[in-house]
Amino acid sequence: MAPSVFTTTILSAFATLSVVQAKTPTYDFVVVGGGTASLAVASRLSRYLPNNTVLVIEAGPDGRDVPGIYVPGMKGITLGGVYDYNFTTVAQTQAGGRSWAQNRGKVLGGSSALNLMCWDRASVAEYDAWEHLGNPGWNWDSMITSMLKVENYTQSVYPGQEIDQGVGVDGPIHATINRIQPKDQDTWIPTMENLGFPENMESLDGNPLGVSIQPNNIDTAKYTRSYSPEYLRIAGDNLLVMTEAQVVKINTEKIHGKVVATGVTLKNNIKINARKEVILSAGSFLSPALLELSGIGNSSIITAAGIKPVLDLPTVGENLQDHIRIQNSFKLKNMTSFDELKYNATFKAEQLALYNTNNVSSYDYAASGFAYLTWPQALGNESATALIKTALKATNAKASIIDKTKLDFMIGKQSHTIPQLEIIFSDGYTGVGGYPLANSSAYGSNYYTLLSVIMHTLSRGNVHINTSNPLGKPIIDPRYLSNPYDLSAAIAATKLNRKIASTAPMRDIIASEYEPDSSIQTDQQWRDFALNHTLTIYHPLGTCAMLPKKEGGVVDPELKVYGTKNIRIVDASVIPVQLSAHIQTAIYGIAERAAEMIAAEYST
Ligand SMILES: Cc1cc2nc3c(=O)[nH]c(=O)nc-3n(C[C@H](O)[C@H](O)[C@H](O)COP(=O)(O)OP(=O)(O)OC[C@H]3O[C@@H](n4cnc5c(N)ncnc54)[C@H](O)[C@@H]3O)c2cc1C
Ligand SMILES: *[C@@H]1O[C@H](CO)[C@@H](O)[C@H](O)[C@H]1NC(C)=O
Ligand SMILES: *[C@@H]1O[C@H](CO)[C@@H](O)[C@H](O)[C@H]1NC(C)=O
Ligand SMILES: *[C@@H]1O[C@H](CO)[C@@H](O)[C@H](O)[C@H]1NC(C)=O
Ligand SMILES: *[C@@H]1O[C@H](CO)[C@@H](O)[C@H](O)[C@H]1NC(C)=O
Ligand SMILES: *[C@@H]1O[C@H](CO)[C@@H](O)[C@H](O)[C@H]1NC(C)=O
Ligand SMILES: *[C@@H]1O[C@H](CO)[C@@H](O)[C@H](O)[C@H]1NC(C)=O
Ligand SMILES: *[C@@H]1O[C@H](CO)[C@@H](O)[C@H](O)[C@H]1NC(C)=O
Ligand SMILES: *[C@@H]1O[C@H](CO)[C@@H](O)[C@H](O)[C@H]1NC(C)=O
Ligand SMILES: *[C@@H]1O[C@H](CO)[C@@H](O)[C@H](O)[C@H]1NC(C)=O
Ligand SMILES: *[C@@H]1O[C@H](CO)[C@@H](O)[C@H](O)[C@H]1NC(C)=O
Ligand SMILES: *[C@@H]1O[C@H](CO)[C@@H](O)[C@H](O)[C@H]1NC(C)=O
Repeated sequence: MAPSVFTTTILSAFATLSVVQAKTPTYDFVVVGGGTASLAVASRLSRYLPNNTVLVIEAGPDGRDVPGIYVPGMKGITLGGVYDYNFTTVAQTQAGGRSWAQNRGKVLGGSSALNLMCWDRASVAEYDAWEHLGNPGWNWDSMITSMLKVENYTQSVYPGQEIDQGVGVDGPIHATINRIQPKDQDTWIPTMENLGFPENMESLDGNPLGVSIQPNNIDTAKYTRSYSPEYLRIAGDNLLVMTEAQVVKINTEKIHGKVVATGVTLKNNIKINARKEVILSAGSFLSPALLELSGIGNSSIITAAGIKPVLDLPTVGENLQDHIRIQNSFKLKNMTSFDELKYNATFKAEQLALYNTNNVSSYDYAASGFAYLTWPQALGNESATALIKTALKATNAKASIIDKTKLDFMIGKQSHTIPQLEIIFSDGYTGVGGYPLANSSAYGSNYYTLLSVIMHTLSRGNVHINTSNPLGKPIIDPRYLSNPYDLSAAIAATKLNRKIASTAPMRDIIASEYEPDSSIQTDQQWRDFALNHTLTIYHPLGTCAMLPKKEGGVVDPELKVYGTKNIRIVDASVIPVQLSAHIQTAIYGIAERAAEMIAAEYST
């Protein structure tokens, strides 16, 4: 019977609980998390299965009217605030002993509410690798089909910046090339071309190599962040979203040796039943944690936490991979940059007024120039060979299927099509030391930054619950820089950034190097700089990998947790191996595919 009483409403936990209590608290599908993938899979499912009910349970509040979330130019200000889980890693012994920030959204939309709005895709061979790893049907063809369903692309207002291939127009998430293109950015493509890196505006169709101006997930109607809550506009009224409600456990029974989910328990002990499935969509850190809280995972960790083991699956929380970045900031000679918003209160107020009246404003700006390069392109053949040798040497003896895949990306048949390095041109200062303080003589200076991202790092780590405080923050250990290749790659990348900035025409706009400054010259200094300044670019994945069980998998190609009948995982944690791209387009694509698979299973 169709439960016509439901509307696609967002209800705070308090309001919702009265709804839940007044009726049988049973839904066909219960989605844990209201984040990036969650709202996509839940909204599509509500349409594909209109006679079913879908409940989304999100721990954070609805932040759709928060300027720090919807104004693109305020990107980053929510980090470390109330919408951020504020996770950190354990001390990274190979990375100067630092404890690295691990920001994650605790708000409707999850990390898509906090992210920096780069909208891109990796190369064909990298999605095809998912199939070669043992996941039939997961390849470029199926992923691009799904990714195109996500998006509604609006062409750039600037001639010459059209993207003709690999963009969708029917989906709920808007993307475009930003109408704010700072003056310093005009040097980006010509400088890169002078270094022999070709322009490639058609970077969204599986061939990202080259230099371009990249899209952002922005809705041009009011120049607002376009993120996963937009999916709710296309959802059916059989979808209910509950916010500010934390799931603490998936409830299960064992039937014929298989674990069967019956529903979930909330922090306030309310139980909600799932008639068909529980779909776990809590992200790369919290999906494995919730499995462990439910007794599914490494039994010795689960037992140590005082939880009764339900299913021994020690691969849960392992295989953690993340993109690392290193950045060089340069002081501009005679141009202002996005930094003016930091030091000129008059300018800031003026730009905000423009934004709020829907006029063109600096607050429209998100990110700008991008390049994707192979190592031979970036470093030349000789240095590339030496760097790749480091990778082979560090990895050969104990290579896992994931390591082997990444080495194949570097030296295999398709290696000439697969980026190993991304460089982002970003207007304004973005670094570790911080923008100069108000009492410093450098206050009022303007900068731009070249950020480099290593696409296939070889360090892998894990995330598990804290056995002394299972409901507290998870223990995150990515083992950053534990594979020597990663540090060598970061050093090569930051050196290349200096070379780019000293090439015309970019060299003509800079007054000086800022971070690092020009005193960094020797190999030892570069190494120290890299150890102190390498950061995450926030792409943790792989902790509930879609892989054969014997290769370290947690979910099968239908995204079902091994040994369970009806627990599926839909988020970044299922991605088995890193992509040469920011990962939101792939995550939305996975959610689109998952909704189709689930609907197919329950339609017959
Ligand atoms: C600062 C930052 C910048 C980034 N920049 C970019 C970028 O420019 N481009 C790009 O492509 N990618 C970027 N990313 C990465 C991208 O945003 C994430 O990979 C993606 O959003 C993760 O999606 P997800 O569905 O896996 O998890 P999330 O979106 O994090 O969703 C998980 C949701 O589950 C909820 N949840 C967790 N546990 C529970 C529980 N027990 N009960 C109820 N709810 C729960 C959380 O509150 C959260 O809302 C960035 C990420 C960050 C943090
Ligand atoms: C939904 O239920 C109605 C009434 O029982 C039925 O007519 C309809 O075919 C069902 N739709 C689907 C998609 O199953
Ligand atoms: C993150 O830290 C900030 C600053 O301490 C705090 O205000 C906020 O509540 C924290 N976020 C969460 C989800 O606890
Ligand atoms: C796509 O966006 C344009 C505006 O950029 C809008 O006119 C159009 O209706 C949108 N398409 C869909 C399917 O939402
Ligand atoms: C399970 O966890 C324990 C304790 O952390 C660890 O020693 C063991 O190696 C893990 N088992 C597997 C198979 O990973
Ligand atoms: C800034 O410097 C460039 C290059 O030296 C020069 O062409 C330009 O006229 C200068 N602009 C201003 C506003 O001084
Ligand atoms: C600050 O911004 C205002 C408004 O754009 C401008 O007139 C002024 O010159 C700026 N001041 C400085 C110090 O740059
Ligand atoms: C913004 O645009 C509107 C109409 O286009 C105009 O009336 C208004 O004055 C502008 N606002 C500012 C602050 O310039
Ligand atoms: C680098 O190697 C490639 C492939 O082997 C070759 O085509 C190219 O000419 C080499 N470049 C230089 C500068 O030697
Ligand atoms: C500048 O300000 C910071 C804090 O705002 C303070 O810690 C520092 O001591 C000040 N430096 C000088 C030279 O006054
Ligand atoms: C684990 O929890 C205990 C108890 O709350 C706390 O003292 C400890 O710092 C936590 N460990 C980590 C690595 O966060
Ligand atoms: C790296 O950090 C250490 C410890 O804070 C500091 O002594 C050293 O000068 C830093 N080196 C560079 C190049 O940043």
